[in-house]
Amino acid sequence: MTQAKIELFEGDITTLKVDAIVNAANESLLGGGGVDGAIHRVAGPDLLVECRGLGGCVTGDAKITGGYHLPARHVIHTVGPIWRGGENNEAELLESCYRSCFVLVREYDLKTIAFPAISTGVYGFPKQGAAKIAVREIEKALADNPALERVILVCFNAETKEAYREALGDWVSSSA
Ligand code: APR
Repeated sequence: MTQAKIELFEGDITTLKVDAIVNAANESLLGGGGVDGAIHRVAGPDLLVECRGLGGCVTGDAKITGGYHLPARHVIHTVGPIWRGGENNEAELLESCYRSCFVLVREYDLKTIAFPAISTGVYGFPKQGAAKIAVREIEKALADNPALERVILVCFNAETKEAYREALGDWVSSSA
């Protein structure tokens, strides 16, 4: 049952000892606020040095680095869409973020990964819609890649947790 492999975690993604944590970055990959700022703060300056060599990342794509001082082995940097009302391919681009991360999970044979609620902070993507996209794409990835053991959805606020609970509930009812 792939649903059993999805976990909710309330707290700071930088504390998680997993194969990879996902960073909600911007196209420069040169750091920022929010979870991007937290990850760079804990990882230390060598993360930025590695990011500088990546030449940025287009929205919807993902790139992998080391984790440095983070407990996580890797950081997968993905760039979510900025919410502009929903008529600018935002949903497709957010779906692409999750798919791009899972391509790297398979390439690097990662077993455990943790996601923040990509695009739902500074980038303003509505939490409910983003949660539904996340759960749907994670469900597909778990079905396609039996080697994947745990996918953690990190909730940094109550609204995000509620949105994920709702999205997971929909999934359970639809798959029952
Ligand atoms: N751990 C887990 N989640 C966190 C953390 C943390 N330490 N800090 C923030 N979050 C949550 C936010 O509460 C939100 O739910 O991560 C989610 C994504 O919010 P942002 O970090 O603002 O990311 P996003 O909306 O994708 O905007 C990306 O913000 O920080 C800049 O450089 C970044 O330009 C990029 C933009």
